[in-house]
Amino acid sequence: MDTLPACPRHTVMEGNSDNTTGQTPQGPLVPGQTPQGPVVFDGMLLPPFPPLMKDAKKRFEDIKNLPYRKDDVILAIYPKSGTHWVWEIVCMILKQKAEYSKEPKEFLFLEAMQDLDVVQNLPSPRPLNTHLPYRWLPTQHVENGGKIVHVLRNPKDVCVSWYHHIKTSMEFGEIGDFKTFYDEIFMNPKVQLMDGWFKYEKDFEQAEKEDKRGAILTLHYESLKKNPIQETRRLADFLNVDLAEEEIVEISDKCSFQKLKLANETVKDHSRLLIFSEQKSVRELMKNMYRKGEIGDWKNHFTVAMNEQFDAVLKEEMKDSDIQVQFE
Ligand code: A3P
Repeated sequence: MDTLPACPRHTVMEGNSDNTTGQTPQGPLVPGQTPQGPVVFDGMLLPPFPPLMKDAKKRFEDIKNLPYRKDDVILAIYPKSGTHWVWEIVCMILKQKAEYSKEPKEFLFLEAMQDLDVVQNLPSPRPLNTHLPYRWLPTQHVENGGKIVHVLRNPKDVCVSWYHHIKTSMEFGEIGDFKTFYDEIFMNPKVQLMDGWFKYEKDFEQAEKEDKRGAILTLHYESLKKNPIQETRRLADFLNVDLAEEEIVEISDKCSFQKLKLANETVKDHSRLLIFSEQKSVRELMKNMYRKGEIGDWKNHFTVAMNEQFDAVLKEEMKDSDIQVQFE
């Protein structure tokens, strides 16, 4: 396991199999209590979900060893790239009904759910979701060509979205202003927030190139936003679900930003979520999951200098990549 330097503003805790008591440098961690520091495992800075705080290595390995069912669908998406949105679309496609379910995405969020065994008792097809990088996806699923839905969003908007998320969740304590988050966490090469956007996406690109069975579908957040019907159709075709045009139109309409935001507040049952213990912040966080839902909010946050620096890093990092990032 790698050791990372602590971000200047918070304490970094190692997640490992010996960490069964969940001791933080500040004292004992009661599972579910708002944690004092984030977890570092396999070179990644991770959100302090209770299972990761308790034993990150075990939860990662349990996910990797998850028994496979051939009609499982795994949404593997870098955080803040539209996971909730696409999870809802996938659920409706699999049910063949443009109907919201009471369960939020977090219900099947592999690294954060309290009890991973819950997934064993669910009927198929299971729309599982995770932010783990490609190398940690369930081995049997990958080896058997199980379907993987991946969404790529431009990293400037990901950075902005994550900043607002973390400000509400307090996952990493006080993070200061946007520039501080950008410099000290998102762009800090020593931190690798959930593997870092660049590595996460390059590894996925590589996996998709090597995948001979067509098991991975990458959607672009921006394309889905601009052409929701066409992209929803692409997703349904990938999942081998035969839907009439009006069903596709209805699903993409029900999953538009405003309608999902409303459904999130009126239909979803967040009461059983124990991702973060403090229920008030869970409610606030869940509300904020649907913040703006736009392309290009980065223009309201990045200074000219930050933008120039980001573009230079992007150019260097992605020099061997064919990924076409859409910033507009
Ligand atoms: P913003 O913070 O930019 O608004 P995730 O689900 O991976 O955490 O991603 C959250 C981001 O997806 C948030 O971005 C959220 O508003 C956006 N989002 C959620 N539903 C959406 C929808 N139907 N259309 C567009 N964006 C959506």
